[in-house]
Amino acid sequence: MSASERCEVTNWQTDFDHTAPEYAADAPAIWEGLRETCPVAHSDRFGGTWLPTRHEEISAIAHDTEHFSSRGVIVSVFEPDIPAPVGYAPPITSDPPFHEVARRLLLPAFSPKAIRPIEAPTRAFCSQLIDQILAQQDSTGVVDAAELYAQHIPVRVIAHMLGVPAEDGDRFRGFIHRILERAGQNEEPVPPEETMVFYILEQIALRRGAPSDDLIGFLLDAEIDGVPLTDEHVLGTIALILLAGIDTTWSAIGASIWHLAQNPDQTARLIAEPELMPFAVEEMLRAFAPVTMARKVAKDVDLGGSRLHEGDWVLLPFPAANRDPEFFESPNEVILDRQKNRHAAFGLGIHRCLGSNLARMELTVALQEWLARVPEFELADPEAVLWSTGQVRGPRKLPIRILASNAASTGKETL
Ligand code: HEM
Repeated sequence: MSASERCEVTNWQTDFDHTAPEYAADAPAIWEGLRETCPVAHSDRFGGTWLPTRHEEISAIAHDTEHFSSRGVIVSVFEPDIPAPVGYAPPITSDPPFHEVARRLLLPAFSPKAIRPIEAPTRAFCSQLIDQILAQQDSTGVVDAAELYAQHIPVRVIAHMLGVPAEDGDRFRGFIHRILERAGQNEEPVPPEETMVFYILEQIALRRGAPSDDLIGFLLDAEIDGVPLTDEHVLGTIALILLAGIDTTWSAIGASIWHLAQNPDQTARLIAEPELMPFAVEEMLRAFAPVTMARKVAKDVDLGGSRLHEGDWVLLPFPAANRDPEFFESPNEVILDRQKNRHAAFGLGIHRCLGSNLARMELTVALQEWLARVPEFELADPEAVLWSTGQVRGPRKLPIRILASNAASTGKETL
């Protein structure tokens, strides 16, 4: 059987498949079932993979870089083949001590000070998207909020930060689909000029000898101990930013709209009490955390009653940690003003998300603009909602019916 053909899952304890559409559609219920019966599940798929579902084990793994390596963070039938310390996408694929060096380098680019100037143009861009959506809608009022709204926002923001043409967004989505959503399952060879590596090398070549003030230029100028970064490092970090910054935020925006579409009371409350937004954003991130990472077992170790062996894969489902009743009160309820909310959506330990300031800004602005212009909406067809498969979970088809909308935006300068 080829890697792209999947056997149906008959038992989530012994044969789970985190890439199955059934998992994507119903993950919280699957974690709940496993947590009660088999908190660290195992599957022979992908060469042997573990799935912890309790906050305790997920946090322990994320904090234990001695036994769990970030050399591989996307479960695949292929072995990660770029050697330490750089790994194929530093810092996310780097282990200590190199990890800290690679991470420190990026901190200034994602600080609150660096993000602030992007907020107003992001807001104008969201508003422009809504103008287009409202102009396009037919008499049914049904539009796809994932395709027409959520997906475009992070694509445009990342293109802006990298200093590449906004039209390249479609290519970014193709890279994400192949690398993340179909990880380890691609069998059709991709022509070299259509690969992400080709695209990034082209962008690097354009900037060599012609300094630029974008993120690619920033990395080309960066040094470690007085030595410029290797090409491998620059390429890997740009690839990481492209992959980490897009479908994650797109998923969080889409999932929040999906939730609000089914909870008009909460939508009305958020509009009436805008000061709740920072809490609501954290709660959406907790309840619909999009990102599951993975680790490679570096040394044999015991976990939750099982013996894990060197070379095994372990999934790190941060979204499952966020639904653990031992850690959160009423974890399956969305409480807009939840006060105690130490969620793990951005990860735990040394690899905690570097883009969290940017992601929070995008999610906040996307929701504020949406609610200002589309205060009443509902799911048009719950069965038609399609969740992405793979390690980033969010709605990729989200048909909603607009029940009330407000007049056009003021058309400020956009991204
Ligand atoms: C809602 C949106 C996002 C979520 C839920 C999210 C989640 C995560 C998680 C869980 C990790 C930890 C990875 C691990 O433990 O292996 C991580 C790391 C990372 N994220 Fe995000 N992320 C989001 C948006 C972004 C954005 C917008 C960027 C940048 C453009 C970004 C850049 C990174 C980077 C560079 C790392 C690696 C940090 C390190 O290894 O030290 N993320 N993210």
